[in-house]
Amino acid sequence: MSAELLSTQPYKGARDFYPEDMELRNWFLGKVRDVLTLSAYDEYNAPMLESLDIYVAKSGEELAKKQTYNFEDRGGRKVAIRPEMTPSVARLVAARLQQLNMPLRWYSIPNLYRNEQPQRGRLREFWQINADIFGCNSYEADLEIIRVAIDMLLCFGADESMFVVRINNRRFFNDVIAKICDMSGEDARLVSKVIDRREKVTREAYVASLVELGLTDEKIAKLDALYTMSVDEATAICPESEGAQELQRLFEDLRALDLEKYCIFDFGIIRGLDYYTGTVFEVFDKHPENTRAMFGGGRYDNLVGLFAKNAQLPGVGFGCGDVTLQNFLECHGLIPEEYSKKIKVLITRFDDVPFVNYSKIANELRANGIMCTTYIGTKKFGKQIDYASKEHFSHVVIMGGTELENGEVKIKDLDAHEETTVKLGDIVEYFNR
Ligand code: HAM
Repeated sequence: MSAELLSTQPYKGARDFYPEDMELRNWFLGKVRDVLTLSAYDEYNAPMLESLDIYVAKSGEELAKKQTYNFEDRGGRKVAIRPEMTPSVARLVAARLQQLNMPLRWYSIPNLYRNEQPQRGRLREFWQINADIFGCNSYEADLEIIRVAIDMLLCFGADESMFVVRINNRRFFNDVIAKICDMSGEDARLVSKVIDRREKVTREAYVASLVELGLTDEKIAKLDALYTMSVDEATAICPESEGAQELQRLFEDLRALDLEKYCIFDFGIIRGLDYYTGTVFEVFDKHPENTRAMFGGGRYDNLVGLFAKNAQLPGVGFGCGDVTLQNFLECHGLIPEEYSKKIKVLITRFDDVPFVNYSKIANELRANGIMCTTYIGTKKFGKQIDYASKEHFSHVVIMGGTELENGEVKIKDLDAHEETTVKLGDIVEYFNR
């Protein structure tokens, strides 16, 4: 009786990356890295395991308590697999607060785990592009971080018909709730949670939750009006609010930089994480198949204070998931066919030529930066060519006994279906032409 075979499937909500999947992901993350590097962001990283406490403190109940994988280690420590990067980066910054030169611009692309129900745009393991600025409490840092998020999509050839940045401000939000609903503190926080979930529940459920929190029809109607207001209309409700002034300045500059066409004020953007204190934003794909947010971010002024006594170091940043970004690129046709096109050479072999002759050609090509390998195995010539085209080699080099005697090779361009005879000493030149 044979033993039961183990499954070849990856863990639920996680993905295997076969070479072609890695190639695609490396391509688009490579472009993202270029954008971040061009804007002078430095890369950092941190361990995948962190103390559970750093999420319980500020990340919000849903993420810390429901979605974080955690366990107790041998020393009795409560350990979490990171569900986000922001508490980790705040910890790194707090540990070197005295030495670091502010403002900092840092980025990282960690893999994160969240125990969510897998669905389109949301998995249990994903990679998240994080970009953050520390040490600047002006709206200028908010403006920069939003500009970087937009640049990350423009670099793929996206335009304003494909995505929108929805922007709000937590301080403004709190001031409006105080004015319209006469609520502050915990009551206001509960209202914000209902508004945050507004687009995920039915209208009836949304209204019922607000009524339960004591809001009258009149107050609910006033909130409704806010969801469709422009930034000027909304901020006029509470012009004395510092958050309103920040929003106004931010939108004025977005306009001046011709970035307003990608952005919209949206009173319904709250962000589920508890640490945000000022500007908050999410980037949405306009494609109807991709309904989940692509980026989420904002300003958090007190996170570093969790780790360093009396430290008040402002931060602002965003996270963008690789799953939603890939869906976005695929749905809008932004992955060029030739993204993986490169010179990749296979040296085919014949039995009547010593193998080292092939190895020498391959060594010379590699020494000149040309991707190359020799065929290893015993298949006939035709099968070697089949292998080359299935493995996406762009060229094959052919040298039988006759070519060896004449000091030459044949080079077959598999895409152009052309064959050229080249002197042994001119092979590198052929590929560099
Ligand atoms: P977040 O809104 O929880 O924010 O996540 C940001 C982005 O990560 C989402 O918009 C989405 O693209 C992606 N994401 C989140 N959960 C999943 C999932 N289960 N599967 C696939 N992608 C997902 C944060 O994490 C903040 N720490 C971002 C931040 C950085 N704020 C300031 N700096």
